[in-house]
Amino acid sequence: MENTRTGITLRVDGEQRSLRVDNRTTLLDALREQLGVTSPKKGCDHGQCGSCTVLLDGRRATTCLTFAVAQDGADIVTAAGLSEGDELHPMQEAFLERDGFQCGYCTPGQVCSAVGMLDEAKAGHPSHVTADLTAEPELTDDEIRERMSGNLCRCAAYPNILAAIRAAAAP
Ligand code: FES
Ligand code: FES
Repeated sequence: MENTRTGITLRVDGEQRSLRVDNRTTLLDALREQLGVTSPKKGCDHGQCGSCTVLLDGRRATTCLTFAVAQDGADIVTAAGLSEGDELHPMQEAFLERDGFQCGYCTPGQVCSAVGMLDEAKAGHPSHVTADLTAEPELTDDEIRERMSGNLCRCAAYPNILAAIRAAAAP
């Protein structure tokens, strides 16, 4: 019979995990269903809501849009893995302090995306609304909104999410 399963290893929130996956399994399903890592949420399952976002080898990525088998050896940090023991990541603190969520379903994806987005801006990556592509991007409200536009919140906590990201981005 044709072999449709592959053994892979993933480092998830600092822990090395080995598993066998059907080659058609998305990274999101492998994390949630096989490894019991439930921080990334399944909202739309086709790349439109951002609730499944993690940091994949340091860059934000929607886990419903990639196959697990393609990420063999990857380093994955979920929102749960951003904290150090009981100490929350500054972005998590900012979301709490600014009431950046209501039902909280989208929040793990928002937090991972916000952390990844700040790194991208710091590295000089322009966005769709960056006016001067030669200058270092300035994190205006419009820039933050554009860079976070892949993360939807059905409760519309957007003003507080923006405030939280602004607070976390402040030096
Ligand atoms: S569940 Fe992945 S983008 Fe919606
Ligand atoms: S806080 Fe409910 S979907 Fe965002």
